[in-house]
Amino acid sequence: MNKKDAKTTYPIHELLKQRWSPRAFADKPVEKQKLRSLFEAARWSPSSYNQQPWRFILGQNGDDSYKKIMDALVEFNQKWASSAPVLVAVIGRTINNIGEGKNAVFQYDAGQAVAHLSVEAMNQGLYVHQMGGFDRKKTAAHFGVPEEYKPVTVLAIGYIGNPDQLEGGLKNSELAERDRFDFDDFVFSGNFGEKSGLFE
Ligand SMILES: Cc1cc2nc3c(=O)[nH]c(=O)nc-3n(C[C@H](O)[C@H](O)[C@H](O)COP(=O)(O)O)c2cc1C
Repeated sequence: MNKKDAKTTYPIHELLKQRWSPRAFADKPVEKQKLRSLFEAARWSPSSYNQQPWRFILGQNGDDSYKKIMDALVEFNQKWASSAPVLVAVIGRTINNIGEGKNAVFQYDAGQAVAHLSVEAMNQGLYVHQMGGFDRKKTAAHFGVPEEYKPVTVLAIGYIGNPDQLEGGLKNSELAERDRFDFDDFVFSGNFGEKSGLFE
């Protein structure tokens, strides 16, 4: 198994450490019970005014929803995501539940629900690869998404596969080390951009 645990400076939860976004998935279906747990985790995610603006369209390899989600992916993503047994389209409700006003944080809330889902996936031995590279108009048309909802991302979900399934650059990045900014590049105090002093 291709493990790419985060090389942390400070201790964090094992599941957060283990999570990463593979492009090679195993040819093994995901148990329905596990999928239920993933959506349970998303369900209990916090959201602004508890509006829960996330909606998910589940595609399982071989069904129509899977084909429609796949069809809207950009070519680069189609290449590797076809090994994933499950594809999910994440849709956000853009307006508030009460009244007509726009929900300024619908994408934030949808993303947070996916964050919870992806950590629960790790807990179930599953991996999630999120994608922004897809045609939102096509997705909306394929599924009859109402005007007040917007496709946000697509998720590829499954058991981890073998990097040898991939070729060239895709295989290289599957095996490459993961990297991140230093703390002082994103944790500030005082003015924007100023070191917090927490990491000295
Ligand atoms: C909102 C979002 C959109 C992404 N879009 C794509 C995508 O279209 N194609 C892709 O291969 N990876 C995509 N990724 C995966 C990121 O490249 C990946 O999360 C990042 O490189 C960090 O790697 P890690 O998740 O393994 O830690 C996306 C991730 C997020 C959160």
